[in-house]
Amino acid sequence: MTLLVTGGAGFIGANFVLDWLAQPGPAGRETLINLDKLTYAGNPETLSSLQGDARHVFVQGDIGDATLVARLLAEHQPRAVLNFAAESHVDRSIHGPEDFIQTNIVGTFHLLEAVRSYWGALEGAARSDFRLLHVSTDEVYGSLGPGDAAFTETHRYEPNSPYSASKAASDHLVRAYHHTYGLPVLTTNCSNNYGPYHFPEKLIPLMIVNALAGKPLPVYGDGLQVRDWLFVKDHCSALRRVLQAGQPGEVYNVGGWNEKPNIEIVQTVCALLDELQPRADGQAYSAQITYVKDRPGHDRRYAIDAGKIERELGWKPAETFETGLRKTVQWYLANPEWVAHVQSGAYRDWVQTHYAHEAAAAGARP
Ligand code: NAD
Ligand code: TYD
Repeated sequence: MTLLVTGGAGFIGANFVLDWLAQPGPAGRETLINLDKLTYAGNPETLSSLQGDARHVFVQGDIGDATLVARLLAEHQPRAVLNFAAESHVDRSIHGPEDFIQTNIVGTFHLLEAVRSYWGALEGAARSDFRLLHVSTDEVYGSLGPGDAAFTETHRYEPNSPYSASKAASDHLVRAYHHTYGLPVLTTNCSNNYGPYHFPEKLIPLMIVNALAGKPLPVYGDGLQVRDWLFVKDHCSALRRVLQAGQPGEVYNVGGWNEKPNIEIVQTVCALLDELQPRADGQAYSAQITYVKDRPGHDRRYAIDAGKIERELGWKPAETFETGLRKTVQWYLANPEWVAHVQSGAYRDWVQTHYAHEAAAAGARP
């Protein structure tokens, strides 16, 4: 059996690929076709441990390239498609929304069209068992007030940034393809993830790498915005469970019941670093915290009600925030080379040196 994963060289997609192939039993033996455009956020070095592993076929390409996607579907006959591919950084969407519209909306549309055509030609169990799992975010629901109940799956969509608006549009398209064409889709809306291989433009990895480099730790506004954090491997286990047992057409919110204000996150990262790799001058890393101008339109609070996925699919996160964050900081301390290659841009050469052969073998564009 085969799965097509899009965006599998990004933070969550790559963690999903690594986790999937590490599963015992039949799941770990399935082949993953990994279609990724390798934007700045795609890092094939994250997948270097899979080099030479026949279960992982990397293809550099765009979800918006309908011909390529149709060819991959026809050639590999996947039983499911998992769509991680997206532009994902809110600050970048504020500076330049166009790529977000192109990939998250237009790209998802082309992917849906290719998948609809492929699925339409399937028969029997191949058709009834097929699934498209669309990976989305809690940010589509907008911002909560301090006393508001957490987002459920029926919360109204009120996206506030170009990023969240583009993800909301993609969710609507996915929903419409189920409603109109019967395409067996599953949608997950997850809270903020953290963990290994996270690109250091997002809050937690940025704070870790800046702290270690002796740079300021920029906290936007008053630092009291609240996010709901989930360890990335818990997100991966939720996706596996939704793929296995989710009902077509249903939406599942994924989260760890773990709301924290940003400043508390930064303070906790600093305290872990004080313990695990103290500053040479004996000062606390928190001395590097610097309050900076707020993000325009900054959402104040996100919180996920993960009751449905727990009740209906029996999923719960395995990590607490304390264990997950400690593992994350330890991972960054143990992997300075991965961080250095991201910072120098050297990771972008990796595809040439390490993946050209596999991509060519898969018939992909070099
Ligand atoms: P990421 O930015 O780290 O990775 C995105 C990946 O998609 C990259 O490898 C990139 O090269 C690839 N990509 C971009 N445009 C593409 C295109 N047109 N065709 C093919 N590949 C393309 O993002 P992430 O944090 O791994 O997020 C993955 C998904 O999960 C996204 O859809 C995001 O909206 C969603 N999500 C993220 C979080 C989070 O906290 N990071 C939380 C909830 C949901
Ligand atoms: P981020 O990791 O960009 O995720 P998102 O905006 O999708 O939630 O940011 C998480 C929170 O941290 C958000 O409230 C913005 C804040 N933040 C900072 O205070 N400083 C920073 O340098 C960054 C990148 C984010």
